[in-house]
Amino acid sequence: MKISPSILSADFTCLGKELKAIEEAGADYVHVDVMDGRFVPNITIGPFVVEAIKRATALPLDVHLMIDEPEKYVEDFARAGSSIITVHVEAARHLHKAVQMIKDKGLKAGVSINPATPVNTLEDIMEDADLILIMSVNPGFSGQGFIPSSLKKIEAVRRMIGEAGRPIELEVDGGIKINNIKEVALAGADVFVSGSGIFGTGDYKKTIAAMRKEIGSVKAEV
Ligand code: DX5
Ligand code: ZN
Repeated sequence: MKISPSILSADFTCLGKELKAIEEAGADYVHVDVMDGRFVPNITIGPFVVEAIKRATALPLDVHLMIDEPEKYVEDFARAGSSIITVHVEAARHLHKAVQMIKDKGLKAGVSINPATPVNTLEDIMEDADLILIMSVNPGFSGQGFIPSSLKKIEAVRRMIGEAGRPIELEVDGGIKINNIKEVALAGADVFVSGSGIFGTGDYKKTIAAMRKEIGSVKAEV
């Protein structure tokens, strides 16, 4: 079970300090939200900033590309120091090719779906993907509410992973906080992205510990 704080909710005037703080608080990954103003109605950061983030943390960079035609930029984000690059089913014209490009760089390839995209769009990529990312909000902004229908999609993808018989991480992104992380874990997730749920709290260490306690109890119950 891994926690991946989304730095979109961090204080960018002191990003280095924020990165150190989540590292010391026990985060597993750093979730980096890349937005292009086309696939989603917001523009955030590019490879130049990802490269700076890489220099400021020892944690693996979990880079979430919310951009059209991601295959055009895989090379740049790989060079910037990503460990995982996730592309969207809805944005990649040649999804299989994009996934292979990421794997050819020696990185983990993630594939994501938006809240209204059916899980069966993932069927033919289960043989290749290293990570599936279920969006539990509409991508574009942090601080939105968790969409409850995401839970049944997480359950369905957990079953698909079982059938695929390969080690695929199941990540969920959007609206995850201490008070709902347990149900997300119960549905079958094993990587939890949280932006405002961590950076919006005063003590990151305490928050991540509380999240771990919630998902730890799920393990014990299973
Ligand atoms: C949404 C992003 C998320 C977001 C999460 O487009 O992909 O990673 O920053 O933020 P919270 O946890 O606040 O919903
Ligand atoms: Zn994200």
